[in-house]
Amino acid sequence: MRRPMVAGNWKMHGSEAANSALLSELQMRLQSQWPIDVAVFPPFVYLADVVRRLRGDAMLVGAQDVCAEAAGAFTGEVAASMLRDVGCTLVIVGHSERRRRYHEDDALVARKFGAALAAGLTPVLCVGETIEEREAERTEEVIARQLDAVLAMHSIEAFERAILAYEPVWAIGTGRNATPAQAQAVHAFLRRRLSDQNAMIGGQTRILYGGSVKASNAAELFAMADVDGGLVGGAALVADEFYQICAAAAARH
Ligand code: PGA
Repeated sequence: MRRPMVAGNWKMHGSEAANSALLSELQMRLQSQWPIDVAVFPPFVYLADVVRRLRGDAMLVGAQDVCAEAAGAFTGEVAASMLRDVGCTLVIVGHSERRRRYHEDDALVARKFGAALAAGLTPVLCVGETIEEREAERTEEVIARQLDAVLAMHSIEAFERAILAYEPVWAIGTGRNATPAQAQAVHAFLRRRLSDQNAMIGGQTRILYGGSVKASNAAELFAMADVDGGLVGGAALVADEFYQICAAAAARH
């Protein structure tokens, strides 16, 4: 059985005061016996503090990005080993905002995925199509290309320690989520693609849905057979919304 996960991507939001208020409320309300993983992804500068604050709590902490290189003269970058050093266990790679705004291509994303694994972090690999690609019926072609770049560089076995996230670009931050049926169709496609190479790994890999997940649509999205939870942006900054999304994931079983 795949353990559901709800991951809160804070993007470039937060402050010491706001983070503290958000985490205190979540710590009070999230139930430790819920059979789900809950993770938060604050900006780099807050990671160590958030890890300290959550010590002894089940909530996991991850970074939103990582450098593909292990160490060296890369001004402004953060290495996977450093994320691990301060207590992160997860890192997002290939978020569409990184791909589009910072021109990260499939090969760079695949290298970041490898850097994460090499440092003992669990990569959360994001894939997703633009609205133009969906309308041209190229969704499967695009996400297959994004996934295959990672499979080609790291092989299927790498997915024993990785998480996938389907995030249609047109659904991110727009308030317009994929319908449960649209999400399920793509998640099933991704799982088949993994299973074609290794049925056990395909069956075990968690595939999160991201793109305008909120309290009001989480339950119907998480009810889909191949949707193992959510990667949540805007709603992750509002304690009650995020709490209710976690509750929807917990109620899935
Ligand atoms: P959103 O963002 O929930 O605000 O649409 C999701 C994401 O980008 O991970």
